[in-house]
Amino acid sequence: MATMESLIGLVNRIQRACTVLGDHGGEGMSLWEALPTVAVVGGQSSGKSSVLESVVGRDFLPRGSGIVTRRPLVLQLYKTDEGQHEYAEFLHAPKRRFSDFASVRKEIQDETDRITGKTKHISNIPIHLSIYSPHVVNLTLIDLPGLTKVAVEGQPDSIVADIENMVRSYVEKPNCIILAISPANQDIATSDAIKLAREVDPSGERTFGVLTKLDLMDKGTNALDVIEGRSYRLQHPWIGIVNRSQADINKNVDMGSARQKEREYFESSPDYGHLANRMGSEYLVKLLSKHLESVIRQRIPSLIALINKTIDELDAELNRLGRPIGADGGAQLYTILEMCRAFDRVFKEHLDGGRPGGDR
Ligand code: GDP
Ligand code: NA
Ligand code: MG
Repeated sequence: MATMESLIGLVNRIQRACTVLGDHGGEGMSLWEALPTVAVVGGQSSGKSSVLESVVGRDFLPRGSGIVTRRPLVLQLYKTDEGQHEYAEFLHAPKRRFSDFASVRKEIQDETDRITGKTKHISNIPIHLSIYSPHVVNLTLIDLPGLTKVAVEGQPDSIVADIENMVRSYVEKPNCIILAISPANQDIATSDAIKLAREVDPSGERTFGVLTKLDLMDKGTNALDVIEGRSYRLQHPWIGIVNRSQADINKNVDMGSARQKEREYFESSPDYGHLANRMGSEYLVKLLSKHLESVIRQRIPSLIALINKTIDELDAELNRLGRPIGADGGAQLYTILEMCRAFDRVFKEHLDGGRPGGDR
């Protein structure tokens, strides 16, 4: 019996297969869209990329002030067996394995520039990155450009609306879990993340409120009204986070020490000490994977239906191409067809065996 962990892994693999198959046409996409993803949303410099790095537990994203993230980054995490070597792969450079995460950051920057030039412009074309590691949980995460209020020098006036439309195109999908990032040193009433999340998810069932920069609040103030849900109520609990400061980044404070520091911050805080075990990046990761599991579990029947539809379509497509198939697109279709059949079997096993006591 496969574990829930591997069920999320399966879903990730389907998503990847659909991504590879992307130019095959619209049909694969319906499967992709049925599967949950997590998108990070918020104003510029609110800490989106920092939160993503914490979730991954690795340093690999371009970060800093101003508009750094200029293309969507679709990040797929695959948990591998204990003791396995950690590495990353880009869809645009499939033959290259990155085992040094500083070079992953450099490649994201270079690949961003390849499309947008060294400008402050943005592009809708996503960068696809996969990370294989024993230290991650299986998840698909999307880093997005920050929402802004004004165009800066060198940007067209349309940039404000362009960014908002791009971000909205991700978070309006019903399968998208929204990590709405707001910095604690700004009034929550002005949060771009909450504004957009409220618009696309009014009931708050797929929004997680994340409050960053708690360490940067004015002395004598705290964020308890927000964190305890009195300022803006969401269905899921708010999570407070302390990411690395720019000074930490400049000093190369590593992820392990950053998490340790974050834990100590909450444990020793007179304001948040009583909430320490429900705050911080590690808790956010747990909460997210738990939520993802339950979402996937609910969707197993509809996933089976969609997979079977995809199998039928791929079968028809392969028949049309005729067999035997060469090393062209047909072979790829065939691989994905086999994969879908395998998924179908495993999902059905989960349906049959996943509920002891039989409540069917
Ligand atoms: P993004 O533009 O939303 O992706 O934000 P980044 O993750 O790039 O962070 C912007 C800047 O804020 C960086 O210099 C980070 O070091 C800093 N930063 C982010 N989160 C925190 C935090 O919780 N505390 C402190 N002190 N600085 C933070
Ligand atoms: Na930034
Ligand atoms: Mg960013």
